[in-house]
Amino acid sequence: MAQSSTSAELAQAGVAQPLRIALAGLGTVGVGVIRLLEANGALIARRAGRPIVVSAVSARDRSRDRGVDLSAYGWEADMTALAARADVDVVVELVGGADGPALKLARDALGGGKALVTANKAMIAHHGLELATLAEASGAPLRFEAAVAGGVPVIKGLREGVAANAVDRVYGILNGTCNFILSTMEDTGRDFADVLAEAQARGYAEADPAFDIEGTDTAHKLSILSALAFGTRIDFASVETSGISRILAADIAQADALGYVIRLIGMAELDMGPDVGGAGRRGLFQRVQAHLVPFDHPLAHVDGATNAMVVEGNFSGRLLFQGAGAGDGPTASAVVADIIDIARGIEAGFEADMPFSVPVASLEAMAPAASGHRHSRAYIRFIVADRPGVLAEITAAMRDAGVSIESLIQKGRADNEGEVLVAMVTHEAPEAAVSKALGLLDGSPSLVAPPLVMHLLGN
Ligand code: HSE
Repeated sequence: MAQSSTSAELAQAGVAQPLRIALAGLGTVGVGVIRLLEANGALIARRAGRPIVVSAVSARDRSRDRGVDLSAYGWEADMTALAARADVDVVVELVGGADGPALKLARDALGGGKALVTANKAMIAHHGLELATLAEASGAPLRFEAAVAGGVPVIKGLREGVAANAVDRVYGILNGTCNFILSTMEDTGRDFADVLAEAQARGYAEADPAFDIEGTDTAHKLSILSALAFGTRIDFASVETSGISRILAADIAQADALGYVIRLIGMAELDMGPDVGGAGRRGLFQRVQAHLVPFDHPLAHVDGATNAMVVEGNFSGRLLFQGAGAGDGPTASAVVADIIDIARGIEAGFEADMPFSVPVASLEAMAPAASGHRHSRAYIRFIVADRPGVLAEITAAMRDAGVSIESLIQKGRADNEGEVLVAMVTHEAPEAAVSKALGLLDGSPSLVAPPLVMHLLGN
Protein backbone atom coordinates (compact mmCIF):
# COMPACT_ATOMS: atom_id res chain seq x y z
CA MET A 1 0.00 0.00 0.00
CA ALA A 2 3.03 2.29 0.25
CA GLN A 3 2.74 3.40 -3.37
CA SER A 4 -0.97 4.18 -3.25
CA SER A 5 -0.48 6.39 -0.20
CA THR A 6 2.15 8.18 -2.30
CA SER A 7 -0.62 8.84 -4.81
CA ALA A 8 -2.85 10.18 -2.08
CA GLU A 9 -0.06 12.41 -0.79
CA LEU A 10 0.50 13.76 -4.27
CA ALA A 11 -3.18 14.55 -4.49
CA GLN A 12 -3.14 16.31 -1.14
CA ALA A 13 -0.10 18.30 -2.21
CA GLY A 14 -2.30 19.71 -4.96
CA VAL A 15 -0.20 18.34 -7.82
CA ALA A 16 -3.36 17.66 -9.79
CA GLN A 17 -6.82 16.38 -9.11
CA PRO A 18 -6.64 12.59 -8.92
CA LEU A 19 -8.42 10.60 -11.55
CA ARG A 20 -10.97 8.51 -9.70
CA ILE A 21 -11.82 5.07 -11.03
CA ALA A 22 -14.38 2.39 -10.22
CA LEU A 23 -13.68 -1.27 -10.88
CA ALA A 24 -16.49 -3.59 -11.91
CA GLY A 25 -15.25 -7.14 -11.53
CA LEU A 26 -12.60 -8.36 -9.12
CA GLY A 27 -11.44 -11.50 -10.87
CA THR A 28 -7.82 -12.00 -11.83
CA VAL A 29 -7.72 -8.87 -14.02
CA GLY A 30 -9.51 -6.60 -11.53
CA VAL A 31 -7.18 -7.68 -8.74
CA GLY A 32 -4.29 -7.27 -11.18
CA VAL A 33 -5.31 -3.63 -11.74
CA ILE A 34 -5.35 -2.95 -7.98
CA ARG A 35 -1.94 -4.59 -7.56
CA LEU A 36 -0.49 -2.68 -10.49
CA LEU A 37 -1.76 0.66 -9.16
CA GLU A 38 -0.28 -0.20 -5.77
CA ALA A 39 3.07 -1.24 -7.17
CA ASN A 40 3.53 1.52 -9.77
CA GLY A 41 1.35 4.31 -8.32
CA ALA A 42 4.11 6.91 -8.13
CA LEU A 43 5.45 6.45 -11.65
CA ILE A 44 1.92 6.28 -13.04
CA ALA A 45 1.05 9.56 -11.29
CA ARG A 46 4.08 11.20 -12.92
CA ARG A 47 3.26 9.85 -16.35
CA ALA A 48 -0.45 10.54 -16.12
CA GLY A 49 0.08 14.01 -14.65
CA ARG A 50 -2.20 13.11 -11.77
CA PRO A 51 -2.62 10.27 -9.30
CA ILE A 52 -5.01 7.50 -10.18
CA VAL A 53 -7.10 6.38 -7.23
CA VAL A 54 -9.72 3.69 -6.81
CA SER A 55 -12.98 5.12 -5.42
CA ALA A 56 -15.23 2.09 -5.54
CA VAL A 57 -15.39 -1.54 -6.56
CA SER A 58 -18.07 -4.08 -7.32
CA ALA A 59 -17.98 -7.87 -7.52
CA ARG A 60 -20.26 -10.77 -6.84
CA ASP A 61 -18.88 -11.77 -3.44
CA ARG A 62 -17.65 -9.15 -0.99
CA SER A 63 -16.25 -11.58 1.55
CA ARG A 64 -13.98 -13.56 -0.76
CA ASP A 65 -10.29 -13.25 0.10
CA ARG A 66 -8.61 -11.90 -3.03
CA GLY A 67 -5.27 -11.15 -1.43
CA VAL A 68 -5.74 -7.36 -1.69
CA ASP A 69 -7.09 -4.90 0.86
CA LEU A 70 -10.41 -3.46 -0.36
CA SER A 71 -11.28 -1.63 2.88
CA ALA A 72 -10.42 1.85 1.54
CA TYR A 73 -12.79 1.55 -1.42
CA GLY A 74 -16.51 2.07 -1.66
CA TRP A 75 -18.50 -1.08 -2.43
CA GLU A 76 -21.48 -1.51 -4.75
CA ALA A 77 -23.32 -4.83 -4.73
CA ASP A 78 -24.95 -3.81 -8.04
CA MET A 79 -22.16 -2.92 -10.42
CA THR A 80 -24.39 -0.79 -12.59
CA ALA A 81 -24.56 1.65 -9.64
CA LEU A 82 -20.90 2.53 -10.24
CA ALA A 83 -21.85 4.67 -13.25
CA ALA A 84 -23.98 6.95 -11.05
CA ARG A 85 -21.39 7.64 -8.34
CA ALA A 86 -20.29 11.24 -8.04
CA ASP A 87 -16.81 10.18 -6.89
CA VAL A 88 -16.01 8.28 -10.11
CA ASP A 89 -14.49 9.70 -13.32
CA VAL A 90 -13.70 6.42 -15.10
CA VAL A 91 -15.63 3.16 -14.98
CA VAL A 92 -13.47 0.10 -15.61
CA GLU A 93 -15.54 -2.87 -16.75
CA LEU A 94 -13.84 -6.25 -16.22
CA VAL A 95 -16.86 -8.50 -15.93
CA GLY A 96 -17.29 -9.77 -19.49
CA GLY A 97 -20.26 -10.96 -21.51
CA ALA A 98 -21.57 -9.24 -24.61
CA ASP A 99 -24.83 -8.15 -23.00
CA GLY A 100 -26.34 -8.09 -19.54
CA PRO A 101 -24.97 -5.96 -16.68
CA ALA A 102 -21.67 -5.20 -18.47
CA LEU A 103 -23.50 -3.57 -21.37
CA LYS A 104 -25.88 -1.68 -19.08
CA LEU A 105 -22.94 -0.35 -17.08
CA ALA A 106 -21.11 0.67 -20.29
CA ARG A 107 -24.20 2.47 -21.66
CA ASP A 108 -24.90 4.22 -18.36
CA ALA A 109 -21.29 5.32 -17.92
CA LEU A 110 -20.79 6.71 -21.42
CA GLY A 111 -24.32 8.09 -21.66
CA GLY A 112 -23.75 9.91 -18.37
CA GLY A 113 -20.44 11.39 -19.51
CA LYS A 114 -18.10 9.07 -17.61
CA ALA A 115 -15.13 7.46 -19.32
CA LEU A 116 -15.25 3.71 -19.86
CA VAL A 117 -12.30 1.32 -20.01
CA THR A 118 -13.13 -2.27 -20.81
CA ALA A 119 -11.42 -5.58 -21.53
CA ASN A 120 -14.67 -6.99 -22.93
CA LYS A 121 -14.06 -8.14 -26.51
CA ALA A 122 -17.48 -9.74 -26.93
CA MET A 123 -19.23 -6.51 -25.91
CA ILE A 124 -17.08 -4.36 -28.21
CA ALA A 125 -17.50 -6.81 -31.12
CA HIS A 126 -21.29 -6.73 -30.74
CA HIS A 127 -21.97 -3.25 -29.41
CA GLY A 128 -18.76 -1.28 -29.97
CA LEU A 129 -20.27 1.09 -32.52
CA GLU A 130 -23.26 1.90 -30.34
CA LEU A 131 -20.94 2.55 -27.39
CA ALA A 132 -18.57 4.65 -29.51
CA THR A 133 -21.55 6.69 -30.72
CA LEU A 134 -22.54 7.30 -27.10
CA ALA A 135 -18.95 8.25 -26.32
CA GLU A 136 -18.79 10.68 -29.22
CA ALA A 137 -22.09 12.26 -28.21
CA SER A 138 -21.19 12.73 -24.55
CA GLY A 139 -17.50 13.49 -25.06
CA ALA A 140 -16.60 10.67 -22.67
CA PRO A 141 -13.67 8.53 -23.76
CA LEU A 142 -14.07 4.81 -24.50
CA ARG A 143 -10.95 2.63 -24.46
CA PHE A 144 -10.60 -1.15 -24.96
CA GLU A 145 -6.90 -1.97 -25.42
CA ALA A 146 -7.21 -5.01 -23.12
CA ALA A 147 -10.01 -6.48 -25.24
CA VAL A 148 -7.54 -7.65 -27.88
CA ALA A 149 -4.36 -9.56 -27.11
CA GLY A 150 -4.10 -8.72 -23.41
CA GLY A 151 -0.90 -6.81 -22.75
CA VAL A 152 0.07 -6.33 -26.40
CA PRO A 153 -0.63 -2.72 -27.47
CA VAL A 154 -2.00 -3.60 -30.88
CA ILE A 155 -4.99 -1.26 -30.66
CA LYS A 156 -2.70 1.65 -29.82
CA GLY A 157 -0.47 0.38 -32.61
CA LEU A 158 -3.33 0.66 -35.10
CA ARG A 159 -4.87 3.88 -33.71
CA GLU A 160 -1.58 5.71 -33.31
CA GLY A 161 1.43 3.82 -34.64
CA VAL A 162 0.19 3.19 -38.17
CA ALA A 163 -2.26 6.09 -38.30
CA ALA A 164 -0.48 7.43 -41.40
CA ASN A 165 -0.78 4.19 -43.36
CA ALA A 166 -3.31 2.46 -45.53
CA VAL A 167 -3.37 -0.96 -43.87
CA ASP A 168 -3.40 -3.80 -46.40
CA ARG A 169 -3.81 -6.70 -44.06
CA VAL A 170 -3.94 -7.63 -40.39
CA TYR A 171 -3.61 -11.21 -39.25
CA GLY A 172 -2.31 -13.27 -36.40
CA ILE A 173 -2.71 -15.46 -33.37
CA LEU A 174 -5.35 -13.93 -31.14
CA ASN A 175 -6.30 -16.73 -28.79
CA GLY A 176 -3.84 -17.98 -26.22
CA THR A 177 -5.87 -21.08 -25.37
CA CYS A 178 -5.81 -22.35 -28.95
CA ASN A 179 -2.17 -21.52 -29.36
CA PHE A 180 -1.29 -23.27 -26.13
CA ILE A 181 -3.26 -26.35 -27.22
CA LEU A 182 -1.75 -26.49 -30.72
CA SER A 183 1.83 -25.86 -29.67
CA THR A 184 1.56 -28.34 -26.78
CA MET A 185 0.08 -30.99 -29.08
CA GLU A 186 3.00 -30.28 -31.40
CA ASP A 187 5.62 -30.59 -28.64
CA THR A 188 4.18 -33.63 -26.88
CA GLY A 189 2.09 -35.55 -29.42
CA ARG A 190 -0.76 -35.45 -26.91
CA ASP A 191 -4.42 -35.40 -27.95
CA PHE A 192 -6.61 -32.32 -28.21
CA ALA A 193 -9.00 -33.08 -25.29
CA ASP A 194 -6.17 -33.81 -22.88
CA VAL A 195 -4.37 -30.53 -23.66
CA LEU A 196 -7.64 -28.52 -23.53
CA ALA A 197 -8.13 -29.71 -19.94
CA GLU A 198 -4.64 -28.43 -19.09
CA ALA A 199 -5.34 -25.03 -20.73
CA GLN A 200 -8.51 -24.71 -18.65
CA ALA A 201 -6.64 -25.65 -15.48
CA ARG A 202 -4.07 -22.94 -16.24
CA GLY A 203 -6.86 -20.36 -16.48
CA TYR A 204 -6.40 -19.35 -20.13
CA ALA A 205 -9.79 -20.50 -21.37
CA GLU A 206 -13.00 -18.46 -21.47
CA ALA A 207 -15.84 -19.39 -19.10
CA ASP A 208 -17.29 -21.28 -22.05
CA PRO A 209 -14.26 -22.92 -23.71
CA ALA A 210 -16.25 -23.31 -26.94
CA PHE A 211 -15.62 -19.57 -27.45
CA ASP A 212 -11.91 -20.32 -27.58
CA ILE A 213 -11.73 -23.61 -29.45
CA GLU A 214 -14.44 -22.86 -32.02
CA GLY A 215 -12.80 -19.57 -32.95
CA THR A 216 -15.42 -17.15 -31.59
CA ASP A 217 -13.01 -15.36 -29.26
CA THR A 218 -10.58 -14.86 -32.14
CA ALA A 219 -13.45 -13.61 -34.33
CA HIS A 220 -14.48 -11.07 -31.68
CA LYS A 221 -10.94 -9.71 -31.56
CA LEU A 222 -10.46 -9.79 -35.33
CA SER A 223 -13.65 -7.82 -35.99
CA ILE A 224 -12.38 -5.08 -33.65
CA LEU A 225 -8.97 -4.97 -35.33
CA SER A 226 -10.60 -4.81 -38.78
CA ALA A 227 -12.59 -1.71 -37.88
CA LEU A 228 -9.46 0.06 -36.65
CA ALA A 229 -7.26 -1.13 -39.50
CA PHE A 230 -9.61 -0.39 -42.39
CA GLY A 231 -11.99 2.26 -41.09
CA THR A 232 -14.92 -0.10 -41.55
CA ARG A 233 -17.93 -0.77 -39.36
CA ILE A 234 -17.43 -3.71 -37.01
CA ASP A 235 -18.90 -6.75 -38.72
CA PHE A 236 -18.49 -9.69 -36.37
CA ALA A 237 -21.38 -11.58 -37.98
CA SER A 238 -19.52 -11.81 -41.30
CA VAL A 239 -16.33 -13.33 -39.92
CA GLU A 240 -16.02 -16.80 -41.47
CA THR A 241 -15.18 -18.77 -38.36
CA SER A 242 -13.89 -22.24 -37.63
CA GLY A 243 -11.86 -23.58 -34.74
CA ILE A 244 -9.36 -26.25 -33.79
CA SER A 245 -11.42 -29.02 -32.21
CA ARG A 246 -11.17 -31.32 -35.25
CA ILE A 247 -7.38 -31.15 -35.53
CA LEU A 248 -5.72 -34.49 -34.89
CA ALA A 249 -2.23 -35.25 -33.66
CA ALA A 250 -1.81 -36.84 -37.12
CA ASP A 251 -2.52 -33.48 -38.84
CA ILE A 252 0.18 -31.87 -36.75
CA ALA A 253 2.60 -34.68 -37.66
CA GLN A 254 1.76 -34.36 -41.39
CA ALA A 255 2.18 -30.59 -41.28
CA ASP A 256 5.52 -31.01 -39.54
CA ALA A 257 6.73 -33.45 -42.21
CA LEU A 258 5.83 -30.85 -44.84
CA GLY A 259 7.65 -28.01 -43.03
CA TYR A 260 4.71 -26.35 -41.28
CA VAL A 261 3.15 -25.86 -37.87
CA ILE A 262 -0.59 -25.45 -37.34
CA ARG A 263 -1.84 -22.20 -35.82
CA LEU A 264 -5.33 -20.69 -35.49
CA ILE A 265 -5.10 -17.49 -37.53
CA GLY A 266 -7.52 -14.57 -37.64
CA MET A 267 -7.07 -12.70 -40.91
CA ALA A 268 -8.66 -9.57 -42.33
CA GLU A 269 -7.97 -7.69 -45.52
CA LEU A 270 -9.65 -5.46 -48.02
CA ASP A 271 -10.50 -7.42 -51.10
CA MET A 272 -11.04 -6.20 -54.65
CA GLY A 273 -12.32 -9.56 -55.88
CA PRO A 274 -14.81 -9.94 -58.72
CA ASP A 275 -17.45 -11.38 -56.39
CA VAL A 276 -17.55 -8.10 -54.50
CA GLY A 277 -19.55 -6.40 -57.20
CA GLY A 278 -17.41 -5.22 -60.06
CA ALA A 279 -14.22 -3.35 -60.69
CA GLY A 280 -13.12 -1.02 -57.95
CA ARG A 281 -15.65 -2.29 -55.39
CA ARG A 282 -14.04 -3.47 -52.22
CA GLY A 283 -15.16 -6.06 -49.75
CA LEU A 284 -13.92 -6.94 -46.30
CA PHE A 285 -12.49 -10.42 -46.00
CA GLN A 286 -12.44 -11.72 -42.42
CA ARG A 287 -11.66 -15.30 -41.59
CA VAL A 288 -10.71 -17.34 -38.53
CA GLN A 289 -9.26 -20.68 -39.55
CA ALA A 290 -6.44 -23.02 -38.57
CA HIS A 291 -3.60 -22.55 -41.07
CA LEU A 292 -0.41 -24.34 -41.92
CA VAL A 293 2.30 -21.81 -41.14
CA PRO A 294 5.74 -22.35 -42.71
CA PHE A 295 8.59 -22.89 -40.26
CA ASP A 296 10.31 -19.70 -41.43
CA HIS A 297 7.29 -17.43 -40.81
CA PRO A 298 7.48 -15.36 -37.58
CA LEU A 299 4.09 -16.73 -36.45
CA ALA A 300 5.45 -20.29 -36.54
CA HIS A 301 7.64 -19.45 -33.55
CA VAL A 302 4.79 -18.18 -31.40
CA ASP A 303 4.24 -20.88 -28.79
CA GLY A 304 2.15 -21.36 -25.67
CA ALA A 305 -0.48 -18.79 -24.68
CA THR A 306 1.34 -16.01 -26.54
CA ASN A 307 -0.49 -13.81 -29.05
CA ALA A 308 1.09 -12.25 -32.13
CA MET A 309 -0.33 -10.02 -34.85
CA VAL A 310 1.09 -8.88 -38.14
CA VAL A 311 -0.01 -5.47 -39.43
CA GLU A 312 0.97 -4.55 -42.98
CA GLY A 313 0.93 -0.83 -43.68
CA ASN A 314 1.68 0.65 -47.09
CA PHE A 315 4.48 2.83 -45.69
CA SER A 316 5.36 1.10 -42.40
CA GLY A 317 5.82 -2.31 -44.00
CA ARG A 318 5.24 -5.41 -41.94
CA LEU A 319 4.98 -4.88 -38.18
CA LEU A 320 4.82 -7.68 -35.64
CA PHE A 321 3.09 -7.21 -32.28
CA GLN A 322 3.73 -10.05 -29.89
CA GLY A 323 3.30 -10.85 -26.21
CA ALA A 324 1.08 -12.28 -23.51
CA GLY A 325 -2.53 -12.30 -24.67
CA ALA A 326 -4.09 -13.05 -21.30
CA GLY A 327 -3.29 -13.19 -17.61
CA ASP A 328 -3.67 -10.73 -14.76
CA GLY A 329 -0.44 -8.75 -15.19
CA PRO A 330 -0.48 -8.21 -18.97
CA THR A 331 -4.22 -7.48 -19.11
CA ALA A 332 -4.01 -5.09 -16.16
CA SER A 333 -1.09 -3.38 -17.92
CA ALA A 334 -3.32 -2.66 -20.94
CA VAL A 335 -6.24 -1.52 -18.76
CA VAL A 336 -4.10 0.92 -16.80
CA ALA A 337 -2.43 2.21 -19.98
CA ASP A 338 -5.92 3.20 -21.16
CA ILE A 339 -6.63 4.87 -17.82
CA ILE A 340 -3.36 6.83 -18.11
CA ASP A 341 -4.41 7.93 -21.62
CA ILE A 342 -7.65 9.24 -20.19
CA ALA A 343 -5.87 11.00 -17.32
CA ARG A 344 -3.61 12.76 -19.82
CA GLY A 345 -6.42 13.59 -22.22
CA ILE A 346 -8.69 15.17 -19.62
CA GLU A 347 -6.37 18.18 -19.69
CA ALA A 348 -6.94 18.59 -23.41
CA GLY A 349 -10.66 17.80 -23.35
CA PHE A 350 -12.16 14.82 -25.13
CA GLU A 351 -14.63 16.53 -27.42
CA ALA A 352 -12.94 15.05 -30.48
CA ASP A 353 -12.38 11.60 -29.00
CA MET A 354 -12.89 8.84 -31.53
CA PRO A 355 -12.63 5.31 -30.14
CA PHE A 356 -12.32 3.85 -33.66
CA SER A 357 -9.91 6.53 -34.96
CA VAL A 358 -12.57 8.15 -37.16
CA PRO A 359 -16.11 9.21 -36.26
CA VAL A 360 -18.48 6.24 -36.13
CA ALA A 361 -20.63 7.89 -38.81
CA SER A 362 -17.75 7.82 -41.26
CA LEU A 363 -16.81 4.16 -40.75
CA GLU A 364 -17.48 2.43 -44.05
CA ALA A 365 -20.18 -0.26 -44.21
CA MET A 366 -18.19 -2.74 -46.27
CA ALA A 367 -19.79 -5.77 -47.88
CA PRO A 368 -18.26 -9.06 -46.79
CA ALA A 369 -15.94 -10.51 -49.43
CA ALA A 370 -16.60 -14.10 -50.35
CA SER A 371 -13.59 -16.35 -50.54
CA GLY A 372 -14.28 -18.22 -53.78
CA HIS A 373 -11.93 -16.29 -56.04
CA ARG A 374 -9.06 -16.29 -53.54
CA HIS A 375 -6.12 -18.34 -54.72
CA SER A 376 -4.57 -20.45 -51.98
CA ARG A 377 -2.80 -23.67 -51.32
CA ALA A 378 -4.79 -25.93 -49.06
CA TYR A 379 -4.13 -28.89 -46.79
CA ILE A 380 -7.11 -31.24 -47.00
CA ARG A 381 -7.41 -34.22 -44.69
CA PHE A 382 -9.86 -37.05 -45.20
CA ILE A 383 -10.64 -40.04 -43.01
CA VAL A 384 -11.79 -42.75 -45.36
CA ALA A 385 -12.76 -46.38 -45.46
CA ASP A 386 -9.73 -48.55 -46.24
CA ARG A 387 -10.87 -50.24 -49.45
CA PRO A 388 -9.88 -50.26 -53.14
CA GLY A 389 -10.83 -47.22 -55.24
CA VAL A 390 -11.24 -44.68 -52.43
CA LEU A 391 -8.07 -42.79 -53.26
CA ALA A 392 -9.06 -42.79 -56.93
CA GLU A 393 -12.47 -41.35 -56.00
CA ILE A 394 -10.84 -38.49 -54.11
CA THR A 395 -8.28 -37.68 -56.80
CA ALA A 396 -11.00 -37.86 -59.49
CA ALA A 397 -13.02 -35.23 -57.61
CA MET A 398 -9.93 -33.01 -57.49
CA ARG A 399 -9.36 -33.52 -61.21
CA ASP A 400 -12.99 -32.80 -62.08
CA ALA A 401 -12.92 -29.57 -60.07
CA GLY A 402 -9.61 -28.50 -61.63
CA VAL A 403 -7.60 -28.77 -58.42
CA SER A 404 -4.02 -29.92 -58.86
CA ILE A 405 -2.51 -32.01 -56.06
CA GLU A 406 1.01 -31.14 -54.96
CA SER A 407 1.53 -33.96 -52.46
CA LEU A 408 -0.53 -36.75 -51.02
CA ILE A 409 0.00 -39.16 -48.19
CA GLN A 410 -2.07 -42.07 -46.92
CA LYS A 411 -1.60 -43.49 -43.44
CA GLY A 412 -3.32 -46.34 -41.62
CA ARG A 413 -4.78 -45.37 -38.27
CA ALA A 414 -3.44 -47.46 -35.42
CA ASP A 415 -6.58 -46.76 -33.40
CA ASN A 416 -9.06 -47.84 -36.04
CA GLU A 417 -8.30 -50.77 -38.29
CA GLY A 418 -10.84 -50.09 -41.01
CA GLU A 419 -10.02 -46.42 -41.63
CA VAL A 420 -7.13 -44.55 -43.16
CA LEU A 421 -6.12 -40.94 -43.11
CA VAL A 422 -5.49 -39.29 -46.46
CA ALA A 423 -3.82 -35.88 -46.35
CA MET A 424 -3.03 -33.78 -49.38
CA VAL A 425 -1.65 -30.37 -50.18
CA THR A 426 -3.00 -28.70 -53.29
CA HIS A 427 -1.23 -26.42 -55.68
CA GLU A 428 -2.52 -22.87 -55.64
CA ALA A 429 -6.17 -22.99 -56.71
CA PRO A 430 -9.27 -20.82 -56.40
CA GLU A 431 -10.96 -21.68 -53.14
CA ALA A 432 -14.18 -22.21 -55.11
CA ALA A 433 -12.51 -25.09 -56.95
CA VAL A 434 -11.58 -26.82 -53.69
CA SER A 435 -15.16 -26.33 -52.47
CA LYS A 436 -16.42 -27.83 -55.72
CA ALA A 437 -14.19 -30.91 -55.28
CA LEU A 438 -15.42 -31.40 -51.73
CA GLY A 439 -18.98 -30.92 -52.96
CA LEU A 440 -18.46 -33.76 -55.41
CA LEU A 441 -17.38 -35.99 -52.54
CA ASP A 442 -20.19 -34.88 -50.25
CA GLY A 443 -22.25 -37.85 -49.12
CA SER A 444 -19.77 -40.42 -50.44
CA PRO A 445 -19.88 -43.58 -48.33
CA SER A 446 -16.09 -43.73 -48.62
CA LEU A 447 -15.72 -40.70 -46.33
CA VAL A 448 -15.94 -41.63 -42.65
CA ALA A 449 -15.88 -37.99 -41.45
CA PRO A 450 -16.21 -34.59 -43.12
CA PRO A 451 -12.88 -33.46 -44.64
CA LEU A 452 -10.82 -30.86 -42.79
CA VAL A 453 -9.45 -27.95 -44.86
CA MET A 454 -6.66 -25.68 -43.62
CA HIS A 455 -5.07 -23.10 -45.88
CA LEU A 456 -1.33 -22.56 -46.08
CA LEU A 457 -0.22 -19.16 -44.86
CA GLY A 458 1.89 -17.45 -47.47
CA ASN A 459 4.90 -15.35 -46.55
N1 HSE B 1 -9.55 -16.92 -23.63
C1 HSE B 1 -8.72 -15.87 -24.15
C2 HSE B 1 -7.50 -16.53 -24.76
C3 HSE B 1 -8.34 -14.92 -23.05
O1 HSE B 1 -7.30 -17.74 -24.57
O2 HSE B 1 -6.74 -15.87 -25.43
C4 HSE B 1 -7.91 -13.58 -23.53
O3 HSE B 1 -8.86 -12.94 -24.30
